[in-house]
Amino acid sequence: MAVELRGLTDNARKTSISELNGRLADSIALALAVKQAHWNVKGRNFIAIHELFDSLHNNLREHVDTMAERVQQLDGVAVGTVQKVSASSGLQEYPTDLTGAEDHVRALCNRYRDHGEKLRAAIDATDEAGDADTADIFTAASRSLDKDLWFLESHLE
Ligand SMILES: [Fe+2]
Repeated sequence: MAVELRGLTDNARKTSISELNGRLADSIALALAVKQAHWNVKGRNFIAIHELFDSLHNNLREHVDTMAERVQQLDGVAVGTVQKVSASSGLQEYPTDLTGAEDHVRALCNRYRDHGEKLRAAIDATDEAGDADTADIFTAASRSLDKDLWFLESHLE
């Protein structure tokens, strides 16, 4: 049985489910890219960068869970299998041949910027549809992403 959320229109609910699943796919893809970097990075700053990447992964994972569970509250189906994520994520594929810390940081920065842009669009779309709570979830995810982009960019000269 659906959770009865009074004061939320059907259109708001549908918009949010669609936006949430879209950004969920990108967030899962980005979280996997960050782990790819965490495992493969090499170099003099190894431990600092290796640990930084893991903290970025943990931050993404937290928002992934919040987005997926909001879909369930809205009576949707959270879509997070690797096959569905691969088909629907618009995030650029992460290279598997990088080892240098700077190369990984640059590759992640590009994807963080893309993801941030999409999260901001999702904030606007869900806010305009009348679901301020989902907009708030995207706002929290976007704010956390911006902070982590700052951490990443600070490693570049
Ligand atoms: Fe690890």
